[in-house]
Amino acid sequence: MKNTVLTFAKAKQEGTKISMLTAYDYSTAKLMDEAGINSILVGDSVGNVMLGYEDTTPVTMDEMIHHVKAVSRGAKNALVIGDMPFMSYHTSIADAVANAGRFIKEGRANAVKLEGGASVCPQIRAIVDAGIPVCAHIGLTPQSINAFGGHRVQGKTEEAAKKIIEDALAVQEAGAFAVVMEAIPEKLATLITQKLDIVTIGIGAGNGCDGQVLVYQDMLGMFSDFTPKFVKRYANIGEIMTEAFKQYDAEVKDTSFPAKEHTYKIDDEVIEKLY
Ligand code: KIV
Repeated sequence: MKNTVLTFAKAKQEGTKISMLTAYDYSTAKLMDEAGINSILVGDSVGNVMLGYEDTTPVTMDEMIHHVKAVSRGAKNALVIGDMPFMSYHTSIADAVANAGRFIKEGRANAVKLEGGASVCPQIRAIVDAGIPVCAHIGLTPQSINAFGGHRVQGKTEEAAKKIIEDALAVQEAGAFAVVMEAIPEKLATLITQKLDIVTIGIGAGNGCDGQVLVYQDMLGMFSDFTPKFVKRYANIGEIMTEAFKQYDAEVKDTSFPAKEHTYKIDDEVIEKLY
């Protein structure tokens, strides 16, 4: 059954946890969908893990739409969320609504995500008013890496924690159906989850959230440039891939690949006429 914003609301009411992973292409999205993952976030982390950028700030709307389209074709049941890239919702409310609309119209996403708390509530309100569900993102918001001075845990002081609580309440008030909370202390995330009626999705925010999200290359051991403390590695697919690439390289060079079973035949009398 298709996961919708109603599935999220029901899960919160019933205390059922929500699983979310990032994906950026058709075949990975299909595998996640078949595994029963509730929601797929086409994150702007595509910039780091797929496109090789140093951070997420260079990612463009066109790059995001390209990947969202592919994921939407693979995800039949998972709720697909398109991540609004840096500067696609900051310049004006009209730009924010137009760009959110592209995720739905062109990307065939079911919802959008944007980073920020109280400061982006006018945009959240306008996008929601246009009939587009919004997932907010507070705590460590990677598009603000230059303002934060690096990837740092947020909300550790009383003042910083209060600001995150205020942001959480503000995005709920603005109409967000869910909020991602990244790299904040577990007890703070649990408190916010108790205070909110909308779903909280944690990444580096402990076990008290209503759901969890991870970047799939991190959880599969496919990306080693930087691995945050909160990542659990469920498989070492990176090692398996490297091993397979090495074996292929060796077999191409020693001519054991392709073997007879990978090869097409032609009748001898046809080939003889060609010499
Ligand atoms: O872009 C992304 O993958 C994200 C998750 C880390 C929540 O925003």
